[in-house]
Amino acid sequence: MEEIYIFGGTFNPVHNGHEAIVKSVINNYNKNLIIMPAGLPPHKNDVEVSSDIRYEMCKLLANKFPETKVSDTELNGNKNYTFITAEKFLLKNIKPCLVIGGDSLRDIFKWKKPEWLLQNVSFLVFKRKDSFSVSYSDLLELAEKYKKLYNAKITVAEDEIPNVSSTEIRIRKIFNLSCENLMPLEIERFVDEHNLYRKYINIIDFLKNNLKEKRYIHTANVAVTAVKINKKLNLPQEKVILAAILHDMAKYIDAKTAFEKGFVASNKDFNKYKNIRHQYVGAFLAAKLFGIEDEDVLNAVKYHTTGRANMSMLEKLIYTADCIEPGRNFEGVQELRKTVENNFEEGFKECLYSTYFKEMQEKGELAAKTIEAVNYYCPEKINKI
Ligand SMILES: [Fe+2]
Ligand SMILES: [Fe+2]
Repeated sequence: MEEIYIFGGTFNPVHNGHEAIVKSVINNYNKNLIIMPAGLPPHKNDVEVSSDIRYEMCKLLANKFPETKVSDTELNGNKNYTFITAEKFLLKNIKPCLVIGGDSLRDIFKWKKPEWLLQNVSFLVFKRKDSFSVSYSDLLELAEKYKKLYNAKITVAEDEIPNVSSTEIRIRKIFNLSCENLMPLEIERFVDEHNLYRKYINIIDFLKNNLKEKRYIHTANVAVTAVKINKKLNLPQEKVILAAILHDMAKYIDAKTAFEKGFVASNKDFNKYKNIRHQYVGAFLAAKLFGIEDEDVLNAVKYHTTGRANMSMLEKLIYTADCIEPGRNFEGVQELRKTVENNFEEGFKECLYSTYFKEMQEKGELAAKTIEAVNYYCPEKINKI
C-alpha cells in the first residue's frame, strides 16, 4: 500500500519548528509529505487570520521543499476530525502516517476515535526541545505500550525540534519586532506584508513615541512572559496581553504633563517616590487615551510597581512577568524564574519579596502600598528581619 505522511497543525503562523519537522521527514523518512493546515473553531480567540492566509503560509513553506504538497482538505469551514481525513486516504488505498508532536501522542485519547487511529494509521512522533514536553524515553515507553495494546505503528524521531512558540511570534508582531530566529525569512516577509497579527496599533504607536527602545523591548518581553506563565493560569489571554502592553506606558511621562492631562494624585506617596508614579499615571492614561474600561486591566497597570494587598490574578501575573522577563539580569533572577515555573503563587511572593528587599537595602524606606503588599503576602519573611 502506498504510504503518505501528513503533517497537520494550525500553522498560525508557520515557524522554524515546522520547517525543522518538514526537513527531517523528507531527509530521514519519506518524501511523500502533505502539509495539512487544520480548520479552526471560531471560538479559538487567538486566531485572527483566515484559513486562506494560513494555507498561503504553508505553501510558502512547501515551496522550499519541492517534494512537499499542501492540502486544503480540512479548510472547508466544518469541524474536521483526523479519523475522517485518515479514512478518506485509506479508501483510496493510501496508508496515512501522521506526523505529530510528543504532546499530541500523550494526549491522543482526547482525539476522536483514538483506538481506531492507533490501529489504522501510523505515527511519526517528534519531541520538542524543552523541559515541559514529554521526554524521549517517555515517548518510547508510550509507543511501546500502544504497540502492545493496539498493534500501533509508532516511530519516535531522534531529531529534536526547536521549541518555537507561535504565540510569542504573534506578540512580537503586535510590537512590529523582528522574528528572524523564530520563523523562515519568506514567511516573516509574508506576515509583515500582510500586516498579520498587528493590533492595538494606536497603543503601540504611543509606546513607540513615548518609551525608550530598551523599555519598548522590555514591554514586549513582559507580554511574552505573561502569556507563557498564563498557560497554567488560564486567564483571558487578551486581557493579559493588553495589561502587559499598557503597564509601562507612562514610564517617561513627567508629573507636570500628567497633571495637565487631568491626572489627580490621590496618594501621598506619589510625590515622594518617583519610581512608582508611572503606575498611577499609566492606569489614568490607559483609560483616558485608549478608552480602557476593564477595571482588572487598569488595576494590573496601577499596581505593577508597588503591588498591594489582595491582588487579582491578573495583577499578580503582570507584577511577576515584569520582574522576571528575559531582559532582567539581577542576581537571583534565575531562581525566581524557576520558582515561578514550578509554582506561580510562590514565585509571585518571591518576586514581591525580592523587590522589597532590594529597595529596602538601597533606600531604607518604601511606598506604603509596597509595605502593605509584603505584609499581606509574606508576613513571615518581614518578621524575620
Ligand atoms: Fe513599570
Ligand atoms: Fe515594566
